[in-house]
Amino acid sequence: MRALCCILAVAFAVTLVAASTADNSAAVMRKLPENLKLGAATASFQVEGAWDAADKSESIWDTFCRIPGNIKDGTDGNDTCKSYEFYQRDIEMLKFLGVDFYRFSVSWPRVLPNGFANKISEDGIGYYSRLVDELLANGIEPVVTIYHWDLPQNLQDLGGWANPLIADWFEDYARVLFDALGDRVKTWVTLNEPKQFAVFGYGMAFCAPNIVSAGIGDYMAIKNLMVAHARVWHLYDKEYRPTQKGTIGIVIATDYREGASDSPEDIEAGKIAFDFEVGLYSHPIFSTTGGFPESVVKRIAERSAQQGFPRSRLPEFTPEEIEYIKGTSDFFGFNHYSTLFYAADSYKPGIFDIPSYNDDLGAVGTYGSYATTSVPHTTKIPGGIRKALNWVKDSYNNPEIMIFENGFGNLGGNNDIDRIDYYLAYLDAVLDAIEVDGCNITRYTAWSLMDNFEWNSGLSVKFGLFEVDYNDDKRTRTARASALWFKDLIATRTLDPDYEPRLEEIKF
Ligand code: NOJ
Repeated sequence: MRALCCILAVAFAVTLVAASTADNSAAVMRKLPENLKLGAATASFQVEGAWDAADKSESIWDTFCRIPGNIKDGTDGNDTCKSYEFYQRDIEMLKFLGVDFYRFSVSWPRVLPNGFANKISEDGIGYYSRLVDELLANGIEPVVTIYHWDLPQNLQDLGGWANPLIADWFEDYARVLFDALGDRVKTWVTLNEPKQFAVFGYGMAFCAPNIVSAGIGDYMAIKNLMVAHARVWHLYDKEYRPTQKGTIGIVIATDYREGASDSPEDIEAGKIAFDFEVGLYSHPIFSTTGGFPESVVKRIAERSAQQGFPRSRLPEFTPEEIEYIKGTSDFFGFNHYSTLFYAADSYKPGIFDIPSYNDDLGAVGTYGSYATTSVPHTTKIPGGIRKALNWVKDSYNNPEIMIFENGFGNLGGNNDIDRIDYYLAYLDAVLDAIEVDGCNITRYTAWSLMDNFEWNSGLSVKFGLFEVDYNDDKRTRTARASALWFKDLIATRTLDPDYEPRLEEIKF
């Protein structure tokens, strides 16, 4: 039974202040390239709720949220949009927008309550199967992320991503998904944003599983996740692609990093920062040489030696692993929000723990002269997305790029002209990257379809095209001005820099 939507299209057409700003008002209307698919994204822990429905077990984020002080507003994943219950309304919203695809993720402990593949939850896999079926029935392509940070807690008890056996466990889990959904799902993402779950989760007290093993555990997780990713790509390539004929790749947070000035030292600081943030994950897969970027390997080895470690804290790949990982992504999955600038002289002894990832990187990133907002990591610097896209194109022989996340965070309000303004500027830069620079970009994804659980900020930070009312048991979703903008963009396939935002009362 679908169509739960109640569109109260009681138009109370509120005319809003025009969203166009000085920097793009001179621009012209631009047609979107025909092959650019448009979609919206969410992730399991951020929207599903139902943390203990049926036989689901706990994820590391369930555990993390329970510890007072970990989540800014004291909320947890169970308070979020309840999509496990209300997913049909999500589909109605996607239909309303007119998207080509929906990117969502699967909760590992929902499908495999033991973490291991000896027991598959009928309820868990049934949920995703229905979601896929109903998306397809509505003409929306499902794009499925296998891992978006919610590891089963029992696997974490065994070391999680710091245990090399994670490659076996991840492969077994992926096989279950390919078997159950691969007849209908044709685009897969192995891992979402490896830096964020490895470094924030195993090196800093910032994300689950909160293993603060700075400059050691984070690098162990990074090596293991690269191998695990490659295992799943090879599994799909050999055993499933011949019949299922889909595509599979990794998604890397590709926020741009550059020097704070034109001085050679600052330019170098920016390059090293980008190698740490992006190259660590992209180089092993997309470069012709393979392995971690030389600048990062050298820097960590030097620092490790100075600190008395008999070997580098960054575990090496064997030559076989280097070859095995090379080429294991059918596309470059690209998430992007903002840019940080690095000055070489920003490093002062004592500002970072030793050892640590930040100390190894060796400089402090800032937003320069750009005005930050309530969610600094979405500070609007649209030139950065074009530079990051070009870096991918130039470094890796112009691979297919799928932009799987881009969006703006704030503290709420439905007349979100700030969000529209951000999207207009970033999409304009994306079109420059395609049309002027020749980047091969085939998807653009808005993060997010609706407000959701923004990790350690809880429910306080909003990214949604749709607002979610958390005080209402039904978690009613209301279209923001940005939802109507996105709908208009998709309907006209035209980017209008002078778009006049509008607001109607539309609820799901
Ligand atoms: C990237 C992550 O993949 C997503 O989960 C998060 O909500 C957004 N960034 C916004 O911070």
